[in-house]
Amino acid sequence: MKLQGKTAFITGGASGIGKAYSEALLSKGVKVSFSDVDGKTGLNTLNEFQEKFGKENVSFYHFDVTDLQKFEDAFKKAVSTHGPIEIMVNNAGIMNEAAWVKMIEINVTALVKGVKVAEAHMRKDKGGKGGRVINISSCVGLRTSCYVPIYAATKHAVRAYTSSLATQLDIEAQGIEYAQLCPDPVDTDMVRKIDAVKVNFYEEVKDSFKETIPPSRCVEALLQLLQLEKMNGAILYVRKDALMYQAMEHKDIGLTWNP
Ligand SMILES: NC(=O)c1ccc[n+]([C@@H]2O[C@H](COP(=O)([O-])OP(=O)(O)OC[C@H]3O[C@@H](n4cnc5c(N)ncnc54)[C@H](O)[C@@H]3O)[C@@H](O)[C@H]2O)c1
Repeated sequence: MKLQGKTAFITGGASGIGKAYSEALLSKGVKVSFSDVDGKTGLNTLNEFQEKFGKENVSFYHFDVTDLQKFEDAFKKAVSTHGPIEIMVNNAGIMNEAAWVKMIEINVTALVKGVKVAEAHMRKDKGGKGGRVINISSCVGLRTSCYVPIYAATKHAVRAYTSSLATQLDIEAQGIEYAQLCPDPVDTDMVRKIDAVKVNFYEEVKDSFKETIPPSRCVEALLQLLQLEKMNGAILYVRKDALMYQAMEHKDIGLTWNP
């Protein structure tokens, strides 16, 4: 897909990887609407982007993605400001085992809402223009983690949901493609600010979080997905050394359980 002239909506875009996604798409000539729960950082990011890319090309929406009505309203405003949205990036997420109810609401419930608002808007068979939806899972959406079991569960949910969406029987009629990114630990506040409340067995795991990849690696992965001619169903594992496509299948390990 050619990016120049497209329109995108990105959640959690004020800082971290979401900011890097927003900036990369703006620099490719995409009009970007980004949202965030952090109004102050969001406005600073908006000013920075407006200076670099022009006021008319970027908008900021201040709301919490778990406020599903505000989410829908902001998406509609973005459409009326920049025109039909063709790229939806459901990026907002937290990692906090103590705040697990909120984490499930943000990482799963609100992400589903993001898919639903995008789908209702994009469906070609309902008068839309089609589009691409990218959901952000994680490396722990691909494997287990005793350090962040509930976070891992939310990211497994994102992986299963996104892959299942990609197999819908009416996918061609919808004209929508669904894909996802599963990054290894990335150098953002999410990782920099981990503590013994947010993750389990903190002392044992803290050093492993020092080995991170830069947000630019996730940007590279997002741009790779978006520029594929067909991206429906892609699961892209974002590692330091490579961007690796993954399969969603399970593997039989035998008829008996031998731990
Ligand atoms: N950093 C990592 O190691 C890593 C690895 C794999 C996947 N991810 C995923 O990538 C995404 C972005 O992570 P990040 O590292 O940039 O995190 P971050 O904490 O650095 O930034 C997240 C952004 O989302 C915003 N946000 C948080 N809760 C929100 C809410 N309820 N409503 C709206 N905005 C909200 C924050 O204010 C912040 O601007 C998340 O989904 C995360 O799970 C991160």
